[in-house]
Amino acid sequence: MKIPFLDLSQQIKEAKKDFNAAFNKTVKNYDFILGEEVALFEKEFAQYCHKKFAVGVNSGTDALFLGLLSLRVGPGDEVIVPTFTYIATALAVSYTGAKPVFVDINERTYNIDPGKIKAAITNRTKAIIPVHLYGQPADMQPILKIAKAYNLKAIEDTAQAHGAKYKMPNGKWEIAGSMTDIGAFSFYPTKNLGAFGDGGMCLTDDEGIYKKLLMLRDYGRRSRYEHITLGYNSRLDTIQAAVLRVKLKHLDKWNALRRRNAKIYLRELQGIKGLIFPLEAGYAYHVYHVFAIRVKNRDRVIEELAKKGIRALIHYPIPLHLQEVYKDLGYKKGDFPVAERIAKEILSLPMYPHLKETQIKFITSVLKDIMDK
Ligand SMILES: Cc1ncc(COP(=O)(O)O)c(C=O)c1O
Repeated sequence: MKIPFLDLSQQIKEAKKDFNAAFNKTVKNYDFILGEEVALFEKEFAQYCHKKFAVGVNSGTDALFLGLLSLRVGPGDEVIVPTFTYIATALAVSYTGAKPVFVDINERTYNIDPGKIKAAITNRTKAIIPVHLYGQPADMQPILKIAKAYNLKAIEDTAQAHGAKYKMPNGKWEIAGSMTDIGAFSFYPTKNLGAFGDGGMCLTDDEGIYKKLLMLRDYGRRSRYEHITLGYNSRLDTIQAAVLRVKLKHLDKWNALRRRNAKIYLRELQGIKGLIFPLEAGYAYHVYHVFAIRVKNRDRVIEELAKKGIRALIHYPIPLHLQEVYKDLGYKKGDFPVAERIAKEILSLPMYPHLKETQIKFITSVLKDIMDK
């Protein structure tokens, strides 16, 4: 049985009529950049996340980058970032001229360890970027407390967690991307809410930040011919917004299917020796963008799975403090032992809403054979 890491064909089939109508409308109106569909999607996505303002941009990386700029992060500043995330989280900091300062992660959730943040704060620290990795919110309550105590700005990197939720100590569930100054989202095609190309979005409740973001994404423009700040060309395409409007209607259902699949995996993986399963923290509604397990002999397991037609990937094999691009920051092996160990053991199994129970059972039975060997 061949099982790809991700298969979007069923998603596309399910909403094909709506996609076709969205394409036709966009082409008929010659409405290709920003435009009505972008405004409508911004409104709908802001409503979905209970935020006042939304600004569509051309990628998740730019949502972080422009978000940081709107918070006045720049040269001389430091921004705290988990070392175990996709490189874009840190690159966005570097683009502003600020310095990413890495922090180790929690051993079971793989998100930034709130207990290790204070030690990374200096008088240059301006902001913190918690990442909701794999679809599970970072432990936001202690992070928000630290941000408040040290007067830090915060941006949630929500690229992998559309529709995830975090339970505050008072029992109230907050949607990922809504708890800080800015929520930054990616709509890269593989994401839980993915376009048919690149796309991203910033959410905020602050009208001043909103107005700045509108300028930053559109050449620093105040009016058609007046440019008052160093802006960029980072706009969401109309066609992508039209696709995303269709998909947003399915997001909760597709996330629920991911959660069902995670449940099946967890049931079927019980009893297999040498595996560490993903953990849904008590405060989390996990949306399983990635279903990651840990094994000691990771590379051999991936090879053996591939021999049986199962495609597994690694998110991520190299923590950011050990990436060549950041060698000048002076970090070394051993600085963040939890992330370094997990980067050697982590393995992502196929996960998407329409993955079938029979496919999951096949994957877990192959995995059992490999681990029993
Ligand atoms: C955690 C994280 N942050 C940021 C990004 C960047 O998003 P994009 O690829 O849309 O620029 C991604 C995805 O690629 C991501 O997974």
